[in-house]
Amino acid sequence: STQSAERGKKWAGYSAMKYLIESKPSVIGLGSGSTIVYAIEYLKMHQTEFAKNVICIPTSFQTRHLILESRLNLGSLDRYPSINVTIDGADEVDERLNAIKGGGACLFQERLVAQASRKFIIVADERKKSKQLGTKWTKGVPVEVIPMALNTVQWQLKRIFPTSLIKLRMATPTDKAGPVVTDNGNLILDCHFGPISDPGALYKEIKCLSGVLDVGLFCNMAERAFFGDNDRENAGEM
Ligand code: A5P
Repeated sequence: STQSAERGKKWAGYSAMKYLIESKPSVIGLGSGSTIVYAIEYLKMHQTEFAKNVICIPTSFQTRHLILESRLNLGSLDRYPSINVTIDGADEVDERLNAIKGGGACLFQERLVAQASRKFIIVADERKKSKQLGTKWTKGVPVEVIPMALNTVQWQLKRIFPTSLIKLRMATPTDKAGPVVTDNGNLILDCHFGPISDPGALYKEIKCLSGVLDVGLFCNMAERAFFGDNDRENAGEM
């Protein structure tokens, strides 16, 4: 149920932040989505010297807002191009900790922050664990596209991957008519490729198409993951 998934997310977020605090980093990256909210909540609850001093680099408008609201120190990549450790959510994670990300459309800034980080930690509820990326019921692999290039990129993707299913991500009509527009003013193509045998190769192939800003495949980036147990109040580590 959704309630047990929430429990899983909460424990993943709390455990990861507890682990992060132990290493006393001075600059941290904070991901986006619903799981990361719990990690930030844990930091906020522990109004220690650490929380007062640590510099937080956001990966989205959502997280920037959360950092400000929580009265944490907001930093930017301009000022802090080197980050000690980043915690972020994911939509599907395989056994080597390769991940599909971008369910919340924040993949580009998430990667900028992740690639600036010495350590990258994933937080998720355990339903997101996968033997092979592309086999779980997700939105597929999000591809962020510059609006001008939308149709030509979609056409190229269809040509390279004839059996793929590609859909422009639409907003919830009660909130906004038309497509989802990212924090960077771009559009998202959700691409279903079926089971992905080589996520790193797929990432490179799509990323090098002009008009593509980023691809929601994060390979060889995470060194640790905290998966919240949906039934019991604890988290497993990988
Ligand atoms: C945001 O674009 C995503 O990469 C999120 O990190 C991912 O979708 C996980 O979100 P939840 O924690 O809400 O499942």
